[in-house]
Amino acid sequence: MLIRPRRNRQNEVIRSMIRENFLAPEHLIAPLFVIDGKDQNIPIKSMPGHSRLSIDHLILEAKELYSMGIKCIALFPAIQDSLKTPDAREAYNEQGLNFRAIRAIKESVPGMLVMGDIALDPYSSDGHDGLVDPKTGEILNDPTLEILARQAICEAKAGVDIIGPSDMMDGRVGYLRNALDEEGFQKTLIMSYTAKYASAFYGPFRDALDSAPKKGDKKTYQMDPSNGTEALREAALDEAEGADIMMVKPGLAYLDVIYRLKQQSTLPISAYNVSGEYAMVKAAAQNGWIDHDKVVLETLMSFRRAGADIILTYHAKEAALLLN
Ligand code: PBG
Repeated sequence: MLIRPRRNRQNEVIRSMIRENFLAPEHLIAPLFVIDGKDQNIPIKSMPGHSRLSIDHLILEAKELYSMGIKCIALFPAIQDSLKTPDAREAYNEQGLNFRAIRAIKESVPGMLVMGDIALDPYSSDGHDGLVDPKTGEILNDPTLEILARQAICEAKAGVDIIGPSDMMDGRVGYLRNALDEEGFQKTLIMSYTAKYASAFYGPFRDALDSAPKKGDKKTYQMDPSNGTEALREAALDEAEGADIMMVKPGLAYLDVIYRLKQQSTLPISAYNVSGEYAMVKAAAQNGWIDHDKVVLETLMSFRRAGADIILTYHAKEAALLLN
C-alpha cells in the first residue's frame, strides 16, 4: 500500500497541523429573547438553558457573553399580546421594548455588536412577517416594505450595528438599504436572511415569542425545503441589492445550501442554527443519548466546514465556555 491516509491521523500534533477548519467565539452570534418588566427571567420550556429576559437581566447576560468573547448578539423581543395589531405598528414605536433593549445594550456594553431583527411577526396579531390582506388572507409584499423600513430606521437610530431582515418579502434588501442610506445610516450592515425556508424547526422560537401564525403557514414567502437552486436566485438578488452578509436558515438540514452560496458568492455567509435544532440536541442530551458538549462542537464545526463564516446559535455561550 503506497497511500495510507491514516498516517496523517496518527497523533494529535499531526492532526492539528493539517486541520482545515477552526471554530472560535468570534464566529458566533448569540440570539437572546427580551421581555418587558424588571427582574424577569422566564425559562423557555422547549429551549432549556434559554429564558425571556427583562432588560436588566439582558444587560448582565450581554456583559457575560462579551467577557467570554461573544461580541455580537441578535435581539428578539417578546411583545405583549395587547400590543399586537394587524398593522404591527408596535414594530416602529421608538419607546417600544425592542428599541429600549437595543439602547440599553449599546449604553452598558458599548463594544457589543447588536443585530436587530426585521419582520412583523412579533408585533402582528396575525403572527405573519408581513401585512395580511383581511379579505383574502394574502401576505402583502409592497405595503410591508414601508413598515419594515420604518422598523429598520428605528433600530438604526437606537444604535443597532446590523439589521437582519428575516421577513422574506421580495425586494426588501434594496428597499431597506435605500431607506437607511437616506437617513444617513450608510454604516449599518445588512445581514439578509437570504435563503430562509418554511421550516418546522422554528417551533421552539415561536413558543418563545408566542408568534406562531394565527392562520395558515409561511409558505408563500419562506422557501420550499425541496429547493436548492432557488437559494442561488435569492442570493443573486440580495447581492445586487446591497446585502453585506447572506444567511441560510435553518442550518443543519441545509448545509448543502450554505455550501452552494459560499461557492457562488464572494460575500461572507452565515448560518442560523435554529431553535428546533437546539431543542433536539438538548432533548437527546437530557436523555443521556448523546454527549452534549461534543455534539455541540461537532455541529458548529459542520457549519464552518460547509462554508459558514458566522454562526447564529443558541449554543453560543456554552460553546464559548468549551472553546476558551
Ligand atoms: C421570524 C423569525 C423566525 C425565526 C427568526 N425570525 C421564525 C419564523 O420565521 O417563524 C426563527 C429562529 C429560530 O427558530 O431559532 N421573523
